[in-house]
Amino acid sequence: MKITFSDRKELPVEGCLVAAIAKDGKLPEELREMDEKGGGQISRAMKAASFDGAKGSVVDIPAPHGLELDRLLLVGAGDVDDLDAWGIECLGGRIAGTLMDRKVTEVSILAMPPEGLEMPATEWAMRITSGMALRNYVFDRYKSDKKGEENGESGKKKKEKKKKLSAVTVLVEEPQSAEKAWQERAGLVAAVHMARDLVNEPGNVLYPAEFARRVKELENLGLEVEVLDEKKLETLGFGALLAVGQGSANAPRVAVMKWNGGKEGKAPVAFVGKGVTFDSGGISIKPSQGMEDMKGDMAGAAAVTGVMRALAARKAKVNAVGIIGLVENMPDGRAQRPGDVVKSLSGQTIAVLNTDAEGRLVLADCLTYARDTFKPALMIDLATLTGAILVALGKEYAGLFSNDDDLSEALRKAGENTGEKVWRLPLGKAYDKLIDHEVADMKNIGGRNAGSITAAQFLKRFVEDTPWAHIDVAGTAMAAEKSDINTSWGPGWGVRLLDAFVRDREEG
Ligand code: BES
Ligand code: MN
Ligand code: ZN
Repeated sequence: MKITFSDRKELPVEGCLVAAIAKDGKLPEELREMDEKGGGQISRAMKAASFDGAKGSVVDIPAPHGLELDRLLLVGAGDVDDLDAWGIECLGGRIAGTLMDRKVTEVSILAMPPEGLEMPATEWAMRITSGMALRNYVFDRYKSDKKGEENGESGKKKKEKKKKLSAVTVLVEEPQSAEKAWQERAGLVAAVHMARDLVNEPGNVLYPAEFARRVKELENLGLEVEVLDEKKLETLGFGALLAVGQGSANAPRVAVMKWNGGKEGKAPVAFVGKGVTFDSGGISIKPSQGMEDMKGDMAGAAAVTGVMRALAARKAKVNAVGIIGLVENMPDGRAQRPGDVVKSLSGQTIAVLNTDAEGRLVLADCLTYARDTFKPALMIDLATLTGAILVALGKEYAGLFSNDDDLSEALRKAGENTGEKVWRLPLGKAYDKLIDHEVADMKNIGGRNAGSITAAQFLKRFVEDTPWAHIDVAGTAMAAEKSDINTSWGPGWGVRLLDAFVRDREEG
C-alpha cells in the first residue's frame, strides 16, 4: 500500500474521500465548506442515515453534489473517551475495513483529531495510518483465481480475490512530520504482517529449514542471524529439542537473531519462541478433527521473529536476542516413544510421558541456551503451549506466568496499551511437585488439572533465577477471531506487545 502525506489545504480532492467523525461530533471545517457548496447534501445524508458518529456507523455518499469527488465516506469514530492510542488504531482498522468491503482501493483520508481530544495531529495521523495498514492484509498467495473469470461449464463467476487498499493519501496539517512519524512506525506493521504470513503458511511450505531461511533474510535489515542445524544441535546437546524432531523427515533448526542497538556490553533482553511448524502430537497422536490448525504451533516463534524485525527496522536502542526452536512433531518409526527418557541441554533428564507435550521440550533447551550463551537481563518466551489456556482464558487474554512482579506488571501494561492483553496465573511449589518423576528428574506432563500451570512450572526449571516471563499464546496467536486490525487466521499476536514492552521499559 502506497502511503503519501499531503497538506489538508489541498482539499477538495477527486476520487474517494473518507473522514472519521466522533460520536455527536461536528464536521471538520473542510467538510462543512463542502456541504455548503453542495447545498447541504452532506448534512442531509447524515441526518437521513441517522449518522451520529457512533462506532460502527457509516454514511456513504456517492457523487456528492457540487463536488469533484466520486464518493465521500464518513465513518463513526465512537466516543472521544475511547480514543486512546490503541483505540485510534482500531478506528484506522475499521476505516480500512469499510473501504475494503466496498472494493475501494484508492482513497484520501482527512486525518485530524476530533474536537475534545488532546492529541497532536501528527500522532493521530500516524495511529490512523498504522491501523489502516495493519488491517490491509490478505493472505491469498495460494488463490489462483483470476478476476471474474468464467468458471467453465457452470457459467458461474468465480469469487473475486479480496481487494487490498493500494494507495492512501493522508491529508494532515503538517505532512512532513506526519510522514516522519509514520516512517518510524511502518517497520512494526511490516513485522506484524510477516508474523501473520509465517503463522498462515501451511506446514508443507513452512518447515524448520524454510522458516530459518526466511529469518536469515532479515540480515538485510541489520539483524545478525545464526542458524544452528541438526548436527550442531547434537554437538551442543539439545537432547530435548532433538527428541521432538526425530520422527520428522524435516530436520530441526534453531535460529538465533541478534540486535545490538543498546550500550555495548549491556546484558540483552532475550525472547524465546516455540516454533513447532506442525504438531501432529507424535506417537501420542492428536485426533484428526482440527489437526490442520497445528500448522500454527509456531506462532510464538513468529512473534519473536516479528519483534526482532521491528526492533531492527526502527533501530531500537536496546540489545536483544531472539531464539526460536524450529521442529516438526511427527509419528514415525524413528519418533520418540511415550516413556522415553531424554537428556536436556541443561543436563536435567525428562521422562516423555506424552509426545504431544512437545513444546516445553523445545523451549527447555532454547531457554537454557539463551541463559548460558547470552546471560540475559531477562527472558520472555512465547508459546502456543497448552489447550488448557483456552479453557481458562479463551481468546481474549494470553496466559502470563512469571517469577518477577515488575516484569509481569510491565507486560500487563504493554498489553493494555496495545490490545494484546495478558493475564497472570500463579506458579508455586505445590504445582512444581506435580511434574516430579520416579526415574527421571521430571516428566513432561502434570495431571489432569492446571495444565497450563504445570507446563509453566516445567519451563521454570530451566530458567533458574533469571527474571523470566512465559506467555501462553495458544488462545490468541492462531485461529484468531476477526478484529478491527486483523481478519486473517494468523493475527501476528505478540509483535506489538513485545515492541511496546521494549519501547516503554528497556529503551532510553
Ligand atoms: N500445541 C499444543 C497446544 C495447543 C492446543 C495449541 C490448542 C493451540 C491450540 C501442545 O503441543 C499440546 O499438544 N499440548 C497438550 C499438552 C498435554 C498433552 C499435556 C494439550 O494442550 O493438550
Ligand atoms: Mn503438542
Ligand atoms: Zn504443540
